[in-house]
Amino acid sequence: MIYAPTPNSIKDALHLLHRGDLIGLPTETVYGLAADATQDLAVAKIFEKKRRPTFNPLIIHGSSPASFKEHVFWNERAERLAKAFWPGPLTLVLPRRKSSSISLLASAGLDSLAIRIPNHPIALDILDKFAKPLAAPSANLSGRISPTTASHVEEDFPDLFILDGESTPIGIESTIVDLTSTSSHLLRPGGISREEIESIIGPLEALSYSLVKAPGMLESHYAPHLPVRLNVLEPSVNEAFLAFGPTSYEGKHLLNLSPTRDLKEAAANLFKMLRLLDLQHVKGIAVAPIPFDGLGVALNDRLQRAAAPRAP
Ligand code: TXA
Ligand code: MG
Repeated sequence: MIYAPTPNSIKDALHLLHRGDLIGLPTETVYGLAADATQDLAVAKIFEKKRRPTFNPLIIHGSSPASFKEHVFWNERAERLAKAFWPGPLTLVLPRRKSSSISLLASAGLDSLAIRIPNHPIALDILDKFAKPLAAPSANLSGRISPTTASHVEEDFPDLFILDGESTPIGIESTIVDLTSTSSHLLRPGGISREEIESIIGPLEALSYSLVKAPGMLESHYAPHLPVRLNVLEPSVNEAFLAFGPTSYEGKHLLNLSPTRDLKEAAANLFKMLRLLDLQHVKGIAVAPIPFDGLGVALNDRLQRAAAPRAP
């Protein structure tokens, strides 16, 4: 069920979280499936509901840097990035304190924690009032397209309590930066570009997805039901077309990520448009080439995973 964020529904949401249940929560990137990060059973419910492999750890959300300091070892790079980008679409991976009360299941037994402060009034209100960290992966079944509206969440989880925050403004998940060693690593491209991060802490090591570092990044992911074909200039008759920039294509099943080639607009539209094209009676989805600069890196990353070979 979808609820407008009234004082009453906020109260109900907090009540559900306290008793260890899940809620659908808007953030500025995508909707999250949130639970009290300190309750093992509540965190277990996230994995169960999403059908997510338990080796894939969750991002922990808080309302202030101070709220994380009992859970992680803070460092100078974290301080500078938090000042520059929080609240906002940046997740920092830091060494976990042994004394942290966050469920070990949430971090999948790793000795690090991924943390962020979302820049969304509803998420911040809930975090502030709940006064404990929330574990929140994207609110979609594992491997499927991330949700950017409350009704996307409802499609995957019809019985979930969902707070309505309208369309998420960024539309693509947070950038994940690993600060656990002396060099900094980009683990997932996302809503803040590599260049923006490097302007604050200097060069990032090459984008590297290792099983240990960002387990969720390996499989086919963000996947529509239809097959996806990338870097297409001329779609075939049986395909829907996801264009980027001006196009002469005149087929029926056309959506344009950004007619003006604005990568921000394209990021905000990506998941919604993939979902819409996935509903058309066609054989597949063809996607136009997207430049690899700025947010384009994150867009290409999501599209490559959407097009990746599926498990049989
Ligand atoms: O924008 C976002 O980050 C959204 C919103 C809801 O906050 N959340 C999100 O969560 O994208 P999820 O679960 O879909 O993706 C979390 C990613 C996974 O790739 C996971 O492997 C990685 O974060 N991750 C979590 N904890 C980690 C850790 N300790 N070390 C490395 N990677 C970690
Ligand atoms: Mg996800």
